[in-house]
Amino acid sequence: MSSPHPDIDRVLLTAEAIAVRVAELGAEVGRDLAGADGQLVIVPVMTGGFIIVADLVRHLPQRRVRIEVVTVSSYGGTNMTSRGSQLLGALPETLVGKHVLVVDDILDTGGTLRLLQEEILRRGAASSRSCVLLRKPTAGAARTKCDYVGFDIPDEFVVGYGLDYDGLYRNLPYVGTLALHARSASHECTDGAHLE
Ligand code: IMP
Ligand code: MG
Repeated sequence: MSSPHPDIDRVLLTAEAIAVRVAELGAEVGRDLAGADGQLVIVPVMTGGFIIVADLVRHLPQRRVRIEVVTVSSYGGTNMTSRGSQLLGALPETLVGKHVLVVDDILDTGGTLRLLQEEILRRGAASSRSCVLLRKPTAGAARTKCDYVGFDIPDEFVVGYGLDYDGLYRNLPYVGTLALHARSASHECTDGAHLE
């Protein structure tokens, strides 16, 4: 596919391909948690998880579902390598006996999902599952339990469908690789807390 925007080198996943796969994931989650109607808590990881969760929950057959967002910070500023994860927002207190599904944009080092899974089970949840749109072939991802994966992608920096660079591009309806010129040199050294 030709590039739809000058800042995007290559489209990895079209909006159509994503829609088909997210519908499949919703059906799969729905089957696995068929008995959990009323006890299901969906935990989107802000900010990157906001688009996949909006699409995913509308494909769940369960109708009595709670959604409780959490915020995790990891990347510093526009750095494109992970520096470990930290929970910023509190997890809901009401997880005892609940079936929890964490939803995030991408599994990279796995720090985010491992942190959340540990914390969710510590809070007495009946089960803790996770779902990501994308997974990169990293050592950290390989040792991280993830129950539902939309697509395995190459280890490249991608944006769109929730994923950002310096807070931009989350609203692209597709997932693509960022052109070199868009990773401005003046931005590369920025070193601030960044919400994933
Ligand atoms: P983790 O390294 O698995 O903990 O992932 C942390 C977060 O890094 C993800 O939720 C994303 O927000 C972000 N991230 C990882 N890879 C990319 C990427 O290629 N583009 C944009 N954000 C990314
Ligand atoms: Mg994220």
